[in-house]
Amino acid sequence: MSQAKYQRVLLKVSGELLAGDEGFGINPSMIDDVADQIKEMVAMKVETAIVIGGGNIFRGIAGSAAGMDRVSADYMGMLATVLNALALQSILEQKGVFTRVQSAIEMKELAEVYIRRKAIRHLEKKRVVIFAAGTGNPYFSTDTAAVLRSIEIDAEVILKGTKVDGVFDKDPMKDPTAKQYSELTYLNVIDRGLKIMDSTAVTLCMDNNLPLIVFNLNEKENIRKVLMGEPVGTLISKADAVEREAHAG
Ligand code: GTP
Repeated sequence: MSQAKYQRVLLKVSGELLAGDEGFGINPSMIDDVADQIKEMVAMKVETAIVIGGGNIFRGIAGSAAGMDRVSADYMGMLATVLNALALQSILEQKGVFTRVQSAIEMKELAEVYIRRKAIRHLEKKRVVIFAAGTGNPYFSTDTAAVLRSIEIDAEVILKGTKVDGVFDKDPMKDPTAKQYSELTYLNVIDRGLKIMDSTAVTLCMDNNLPLIVFNLNEKENIRKVLMGEPVGTLISKADAVEREAHAG
């Protein structure tokens, strides 16, 4: 197999993606597909870290909109990511992929606590490290956790796996004329209010010059293409990247 472009990456898996068509909970075939893609990353000898969202189970912001205090709701969201992390670990290990789950909130009976140097050691030993419980702090999204962990472990790129093909000028689910960008700068994303990640996550990427690729994780070949450096999805990087619209197909 040919050499991947990256040696160490962090894959952000959205919780919503795991819900599949049901829109809630963990869809067995979706998590199985995600695990297969992660297995492929390992087979390509890419050191792989995962941050998983929790939106398929509970969203802090939605909880606070429903009358809970924001801090409690955010902690519930963090616990939701732990459920997803344990499910993914279990499926990956059934497929023969070695994993470690590290949680930002200590719950030592079921996961290691997050220790940066230990996470890096696991990656060096070719274990997939799944980071659970976000940053461990309320008011921070799992996207921000993904960027933070990427920087901490020296990932070369953050891959944001979603249900859509990349970043569009309009919502592609609502407007069929929406056009996909192939490249954007961090400032484009902020200026145009493109809802890829919250602004904390985007600025943290920008300040640390961490490239981000948004792509469709449902397309089975995508992860391999992304890792080989093929132009899949939307690349968000620093100012000298040229913005242009993606070619259809
Ligand atoms: P190396 O020292 O690099 O070989 O890493 P290792 O993870 O194999 O060693 P360690 O002895 O730390 O862990 C052995 C097993 O226990 C692994 O499956 C870890 O995920 C798990 N483990 C380690 N620390 C904790 C913890 O605090 N809580 C839980 N629940 N499991 C842990």
